[in-house]
Amino acid sequence: MAACLQSNIRLNLNNIVGGKCRSLTDQSRTPCRIRCAAASPGKKRFNIALLPGDGIGPEVISVAKNVLQQAGSLEGLEFNFQEMPIGGAALDLVGVALPEETLSAAKQSDAILLGAIGGYKWDNNEKHLRPEMALIYLRRDLKVFANLRPASVLPQLVDASTLKREVAEGVDMMIVRELTGGIYFGEPRGIKTNENGEEVGFNTEFYAAHEIDRIARVAFETARKRRGKLCSVDKANVLDASVLWRRRVTALASEYPDVELSHMYVDNAAMQLIRDPKQFDTIVTNNIFGDILSDEASMITGSIGMLPSASLGVSGPGLFEPIHGSAPDIAGQDKANPLATILSAAMLLKYGLGEEKAAKRIEDAVLDALNKGFRTGDIYSPGNKLVGCKEMGEEVLKSVDSRVTATV
Ligand SMILES: NC(=O)c1ccc[n+]([C@@H]2O[C@H](COP(=O)([O-])OP(=O)(O)OC[C@H]3O[C@@H](n4cnc5c(N)ncnc54)[C@H](O)[C@@H]3O)[C@@H](O)[C@H]2O)c1
Repeated sequence: MAACLQSNIRLNLNNIVGGKCRSLTDQSRTPCRIRCAAASPGKKRFNIALLPGDGIGPEVISVAKNVLQQAGSLEGLEFNFQEMPIGGAALDLVGVALPEETLSAAKQSDAILLGAIGGYKWDNNEKHLRPEMALIYLRRDLKVFANLRPASVLPQLVDASTLKREVAEGVDMMIVRELTGGIYFGEPRGIKTNENGEEVGFNTEFYAAHEIDRIARVAFETARKRRGKLCSVDKANVLDASVLWRRRVTALASEYPDVELSHMYVDNAAMQLIRDPKQFDTIVTNNIFGDILSDEASMITGSIGMLPSASLGVSGPGLFEPIHGSAPDIAGQDKANPLATILSAAMLLKYGLGEEKAAKRIEDAVLDALNKGFRTGDIYSPGNKLVGCKEMGEEVLKSVDSRVTATV
């Protein structure tokens, strides 16, 4: 993991730079058996598990799949897509949110591209029958503990930010969120009746030292490849788990003398993100704080519909998904912004398969479509051309193609 992450960490949609992810040469991470199986001569073949999920999930995945396929084929890559149900769709189909077959297809793939899960229909289900549990279990079973969430304000979208131009312009940060520990997984948890006969709900924020160390290392390596600044966000003034978090992160800092480490309480971090987001380069934080802060950061960039993510473990396939949810309020209306999922496909190519050239084709095509003025509703501003999910996908596809013609 460290080897993979060390070499590729600068994420900026305008200029994604860095070395090659070593996952390609790391047999333990992406087994050669799959790629070598049935590829055409001169082509590399990858198995991709597609998990569209619910709400706008299928809409954005369908668009991103086409872009992935096209960008890949221009770089000599062939994909074998296996589409599997997850979340509410799986509940309706087979009665569980994460069917064995879906988990097994995901584990055996080279990389997983996921849409989103959840929706009004299942909101009142009992916890074990909630779509969202599929995602929690999937991340846990894939052991993808490091969640990379870039948040950069693209020059084309400065006016889509909810912040003033001078505050938003130039924001470029990476949030490194711990993904498989903390309060989302800690025991004991539950709802019970106490001695006074009153119902109580409880969860446990739990972190072992090794869990903090491994995510902190990813974050230090990430910061090292960026602007060399790491801010660790915790709540050490109140939470014991945060006291240990801060202690471990501080202890590791001596191994990274080139990285400037600071600490911030999460309430202050939430405020600073709005007040002066440019102060942040790399942020490392626990599962729940990362969940919340990265949604907040997404609004600085213009829309939650713009932000991709990569979840990586020590070995096995990575999980790539937009950070947004299933947006049931706009599902089925061709209004979803597919760019977060398209950019997740780019992260899949780069971080999951080590195919940086194909990834760059996608990133360039997204910027090209934005430069031409195409905007979905969430990032629309007057003077641009309002398009739906499908048309935005078609424009990105055209840009993938036209840039080939331009470079041939
Ligand atoms: N990773 C996931 O699958 C994930 C993440 C968060 C929430 N959820 C689930 O999604 C459902 C809805 O949750 P929510 O409303 O809190 O969050 P959400 O991200 O689905 O939506 C929040 C707001 O952002 C808008 N939005 C989201 N993605 C968009 C896109 N691509 N283009 C344009 N607008 C977009 C929505 O229309 C909505 O107004 C819930 O069931 C929740 O549990 C799933």
